[in-house]
Amino acid sequence: MTGLKSARRARCSGAAAFVLACSAAHAVHVQAAAAEPLGVANSQRAWQNWTLNCQGCHRPDGSGSAGTTPSVAGSVAKFLQAAKGREYLTRVPGVATSALSDDELAEVLNWMLWRFDSQDMPADFTPFTAAEVADFRKRPLRLEASRMRSELLVEAGIAAAP
Ligand code: HEC
Repeated sequence: MTGLKSARRARCSGAAAFVLACSAAHAVHVQAAAAEPLGVANSQRAWQNWTLNCQGCHRPDGSGSAGTTPSVAGSVAKFLQAAKGREYLTRVPGVATSALSDDELAEVLNWMLWRFDSQDMPADFTPFTAAEVADFRKRPLRLEASRMRSELLVEAGIAAAP
């Protein structure tokens, strides 16, 4: 065996070494397959649905797009502390009017909370269900989205009252 070949084999043999050394981005999904987050039947599918339907505005790391889309990283689960937080997260236009089915949308929401803000998930978190999403998304927020957002940010203690 040549030196180059054995070095390559040492770096990329075995699934764990491959994940660690060759594909850091995949590590999250490989780990998730072992223990799926609450309300997520298939985190690989949730991640793909997020990629195709949401990340154009929200960005792969949830940091958002300056001037248009707020960051969800480290904050999105805090909305669950507000009385109308679940309603807001489901009626926000990008969610309610998405092309995803109710099932897929519930899964993406559960995945997204875990992926971008697991530290703020309430201990007694009840995952979104298709039925809950189906009901809320019948009434998508329109112009009132940003006002509701500002009020919930204050209620959930994310922002100070104006
Ligand atoms: C066209 C851009 C766009 C797309 C696509 C989009 N969003 Fe959003 N999202 C926004 C904006 C802008 C907000 C802030 C609220 C508002 O003004 O609509 C937001 C807010 C949210 C929020 C509430 C968090 C907060 O801080 O306000 C969640 C949850 C969310 N989006 C999830 C999703 C999911 C899940 C998808 C894909 C199914 C998605 N979004 C697709 C632009 C987008």
